[in-house]
Amino acid sequence: MSILITGAAGFIGFHLAEVLLGQGRRVIGVDNLNDYYDPALKEARLARLQARNGFTFHKMDISERVRVEALAAEYTDISGIVHLASQAGVRYSLVNPYAYTRANVEGHLVLLEAARRLPELKHFVYASSSSVYGANTKLPFSVDDRTDNPVSLYGATKKTMEVMSESYARMWGLPLTGLRFFTVYGPWGRPDMAAFIFMRKILAGEPIPVFNNGDMQRDFTYVDDIVAGVVACLDKPTPSGGSEAPHRVYNIGNNRSEPLMRFIEIIEHALGRKAEIDFQPMQPGDVKATFADIEATTRDFGFVPSTPIDEGLPTLVAWYRDYYGA
Ligand SMILES: NC(=O)c1ccc[n+]([C@@H]2O[C@H](COP(=O)([O-])OP(=O)(O)OC[C@H]3O[C@@H](n4cnc5c(N)ncnc54)[C@H](O)[C@@H]3O)[C@@H](O)[C@H]2O)c1
Repeated sequence: MSILITGAAGFIGFHLAEVLLGQGRRVIGVDNLNDYYDPALKEARLARLQARNGFTFHKMDISERVRVEALAAEYTDISGIVHLASQAGVRYSLVNPYAYTRANVEGHLVLLEAARRLPELKHFVYASSSSVYGANTKLPFSVDDRTDNPVSLYGATKKTMEVMSESYARMWGLPLTGLRFFTVYGPWGRPDMAAFIFMRKILAGEPIPVFNNGDMQRDFTYVDDIVAGVVACLDKPTPSGGSEAPHRVYNIGNNRSEPLMRFIEIIEHALGRKAEIDFQPMQPGDVKATFADIEATTRDFGFVPSTPIDEGLPTLVAWYRDYYGA
C-alpha cells in the first residue's frame, strides 16, 4: 500500500513525507518544482526525501491529466492521497490569478478523477485554507460558519476545491476530507511567508513591512502539529455507506490567535536583533484576524496542537541561521 503526496517537495508535503517514511510507509511524491519561490529549496527538501527508503518521486504538473492518469495506472496500490500541491499565497493571486485556477481547480479535478478509479483508495485528504473564511469577523472561525465571501481568488479556489470534493463524494462515494490549514510555520518553510520575510530583512538590516499598522492577529500553527493532524486524519477515513456524503471539512490551527507584533518580538529575540518596522496600510486580499475553532478536529482525530510560537519560532530561527549560514 502506498500513499500519494502531491506537493511533496513543498513545505508541508516534505514534512509529511518524512513522518510517513519514518513510520515505514511507502510514499509516492509528485511536484512540478515550480519557481513561485526559490526552487533550490524544493530541490533540497526533495534530495533529503530521495535519500530515504520507500520514497519515489515523479516530477509532473497535477493539471496534466494524461500524466496523472498514467501515474494512477502504474500505482494501483495507492491507499491514501494527501493532496497538497496548490498555488499558495494570498497576495500573488492578485498578480497571477490563472496560476490558481490551473493548479487549484483544474489540478484538483484531475486528482479527483484519478482517485475515483483507484481500486484500493481508502481516503483522499486535501489542503484547504483559513482563507475560505474571507471577510468573516466572528472569531474563532468555525466549520459551521458561512464561507461564501472570499476576499482573495486564492480563498475562492480553496472553497471551490471543497465544493468540488462534496460533489465527488456524492457522485462517486469517494471518501474525502478537507483540512483548512491556518498560517503554518517551521523549519524548511516558505520564503514568501511572513516569518521568512522578517528573518531575511532583519538580518540584512532592512525595514520589515507590517500591514494594517501591526493590528493583525494570526492563528500560527507549527508544522509538526499540522503534520500530526494530517496523519491522524489520513488514517481515519470519512465513514461511507450512510445517508451522508463521505466528505468532511475541518480546521487545523493552533487554536490561539496571536498579535502580529508579538510574533515579531519573538523573532527579534531569537535573532538577537531589533527590527526596523515599516508600518503600511492593509493589503488587498488580506484579513485582519484568523483564529481556528478546532473542537471537531480534536474530537474526531485527537488533534491537540502542542507548540506555542514561543517554542516554534526559536526552532525556526535556529534552522534558518544554519541552513542559510546567516
Ligand atoms: N503554509 C500555510 O500556511 C498554508 C495555509 C493554508 C493552506 N495551505 C495549503 O497547504 C498546501 C501546502 O502548502 P505549503 O505551504 O506546503 O506550500 P508549498 O508551495 O511549499 O507547497 C506546494 C507544492 O506544490 C507544488 N505545486 C504547485 N502547483 C503544482 C502543480 N500544478 N503540479 C504539481 N505540483 C505543484 C509546488 O511546487 C510546491 O512544492 C497548499 O495546498 C496550500 O494552499 C498552506
